[in-house]
Amino acid sequence: MIIAVDGPTASGKGTIAKALAAHFGLPHLDTGLLYRAVGRQVALDGGDPDCAEDALAACSFPDALLDDPELRSEESGGLASRVSIHPAVRQALYARQRAFAMQPAGAVLDGRDIGTVIAPDADVKLFITASVQARARRRWLEMTAGDIGREIDIPLAEIERDIVARDDRDISRKDAPLRAAADALVIDTTGMNRERAIAEAIEAVRMHRAAAR
Ligand code: DC
Repeated sequence: MIIAVDGPTASGKGTIAKALAAHFGLPHLDTGLLYRAVGRQVALDGGDPDCAEDALAACSFPDALLDDPELRSEESGGLASRVSIHPAVRQALYARQRAFAMQPAGAVLDGRDIGTVIAPDADVKLFITASVQARARRRWLEMTAGDIGREIDIPLAEIERDIVARDDRDISRKDAPLRAAADALVIDTTGMNRERAIAEAIEAVRMHRAAAR
């Protein structure tokens, strides 16, 4: 079974994808991490994330970079969003994601274009969303609690602005923009706690599977 989990930043899609993978015993790939690694590699190389050539060169980042805690920072998220605009970068990362999705046992992948581009043939497609305010608040709580490895003192309004800018870039890019696949089930996690969001997603997958039998 392939499960595609898409949605905007801080919607809860990563948490949900991880929980689905554990529940159904499937391997999980956070595809955003690949784009974050490309963004970070560009910065390490002293390149320009808005230059397609520099970004493409950074796609051959070493695998060890995927374990760098710095990838989870807001800065890396912003760089990832910028390099992800380039079609050459998306193409360079396609094979790795597609191979992961096609494992015999199945897989859970989360990102922006899993249900539309990477695995349009996925058995279940979820699109996880939440209001900008709810997402900014979650991200702020994570950051100020030191969940990304160190405590960061940052105003909530700044995170909100950053999320809006990132949404705009992800939605308006020409190649594989962020959007729900026509056959995706949309789950709005605004006002849901972590447990409830996970329970809803598990139930959605279960119902989908039962209906397909
Ligand atoms: O999910 P995330 O916040 O880690 O993603 C960071 C950026 O990477 C996001 O703003 C856009 C890009 N991305 C993408 O274009 N396609 C994906 N499948 C995953 C992430």
